[in-house]
Amino acid sequence: MNDTRKTAAIIGASRALGLGLATEYVHRGWDVIGTVRGSHRTGLHDLADASGGRLTIESLEMTEPEQISALRDRLARHTLDLLFVNAAITRGDVPISDVPTDMFTEVMITNALSPMRVVESLRSLVTPTGTIGVMSSSQGSIALNTRGGQDLYRASKSALNQLMRCYAARHAEDTRTLLLMDPGWVRTELGGPDADLSVEESIPGVVETIESHQGKRGLHFLDYEGQVVPW
Ligand SMILES: NC(=O)c1ccc[n+]([C@@H]2O[C@H](COP(=O)([O-])OP(=O)(O)OC[C@H]3O[C@@H](n4cnc5c(N)ncnc54)[C@H](OP(=O)(O)O)[C@@H]3O)[C@@H](O)[C@H]2O)c1
Repeated sequence: MNDTRKTAAIIGASRALGLGLATEYVHRGWDVIGTVRGSHRTGLHDLADASGGRLTIESLEMTEPEQISALRDRLARHTLDLLFVNAAITRGDVPISDVPTDMFTEVMITNALSPMRVVESLRSLVTPTGTIGVMSSSQGSIALNTRGGQDLYRASKSALNQLMRCYAARHAEDTRTLLLMDPGWVRTELGGPDADLSVEESIPGVVETIESHQGKRGLHFLDYEGQVVPW
């Protein structure tokens, strides 16, 4: 292994923004560990084939705690410069009064609880000057919510932000940088076809913002242009 190369682990890298992140870090010369679910072939497999051995694919359904533990064991010999949890879901724009309990539970477990379980489980693999990032959204900002809509998705990202603040307070002496990232509104399955940005227009800014905050410590909620997002 080449010790001068940096390593990123990207959770949820099969397609869209996660695949874009993996692609950008491979192009920047990093070693990348990307996770997918299931055994079907994804865009990440094509990237791995073209990466000259820089990209390793791991399997993780992040709502299964035992799969997180197993991934932690498989990665035990790695030192990560970046751990980034990208994966999340939406279940459509349903007013909270119409959201079934199982939908509420599914979205909250996927978007808020599971990323924190991944962060807690894999944090010790991240180098002391490294970065732990989680994909949030401006829709998780309570201060910016003047129009409503996407109630459950918004609430799940607000919960994620709050849990990251709890994490940051609990690990106040930690030298690692903690980031909540807003990638902008991006044309993906989750973002929909009417979104402002392509993955290629969002991701370089996301990565530039991550890299410019390396070593800065503390928790930061930032967008893909490096701007602070209000809580
Ligand atoms: N697109 C936007 O406009 C936008 C805006 C703000 C924030 N974001 C955030 O950016 C991130 C990526 O969004 P996207 O637009 O790229 O979404 P997407 O196209 O729906 O892709 C979601 C990714 O998450 C993975 N995933 C979902 N649930 C998972 C689970 N339980 N375990 C493991 N992996 C799981 C998916 O894997 P599979 O392929 O196996 O389903 C896929 O790789 C999300 O956190 C999203 O909330 C997106």
